[in-house]
Amino acid sequence: MSDDLYSLAYFSRNTMTGPPAVIEAGIGAILQVARDKNRLAGITGALLFSGGCFAQVLEGPQAALEDLFETIQYDPRQDNVTILHFHPISARSFDGWSMAYAGQTDAMRDQAVAASALGSPGEIATVAEGQGFLAVLTDYIRRREQANPPT
Ligand SMILES: Cc1cc2nc3c(=O)[nH]c(=O)nc-3n(C[C@H](O)[C@H](O)[C@H](O)COP(=O)(O)O)c2cc1C
Repeated sequence: MSDDLYSLAYFSRNTMTGPPAVIEAGIGAILQVARDKNRLAGITGALLFSGGCFAQVLEGPQAALEDLFETIQYDPRQDNVTILHFHPISARSFDGWSMAYAGQTDAMRDQAVAASALGSPGEIATVAEGQGFLAVLTDYIRRREQANPPT
């Protein structure tokens, strides 16, 4: 429990170009920096990449999240950044993960969940409006991360 624990979720569109392997390498570079910086800032969360879109959940102290999001929202590797929520939480959903990740390959292995979570921007908006988005994302990434040790 913390008085100053917030959750921020957004989705966006990837602007990195190239074959899937190049894009995955680009995301790998993002994750490497993100995990180091997030650990230092007390931020945890998850990133999902599918269908050319990102969805990310960030958790941590309000000021740290605001600072980080200022940077992320202007990152040229994505555009159309749309905030889904920013509100206080009583506990982290991704405790122990400086940035969990589920990518295209994972998503293709689980078409049904990927389609419901990130099939297209229109679907994302629909799912987000239904408040089911975070639950779907959390459940999906948790299951994908089970095979990997926390970072
Ligand atoms: C989709 C996406 C998600 C990102 N997530 C994070 C993150 O969780 N933490 C982080 O520090 N940087 C993240 N970044 C990278 C930041 O935009 C930025 O490049 C990085 O924090 C380095 O910023 P600095 O050079 O000002 O320190 C993300 C970038 C993208 C495109």
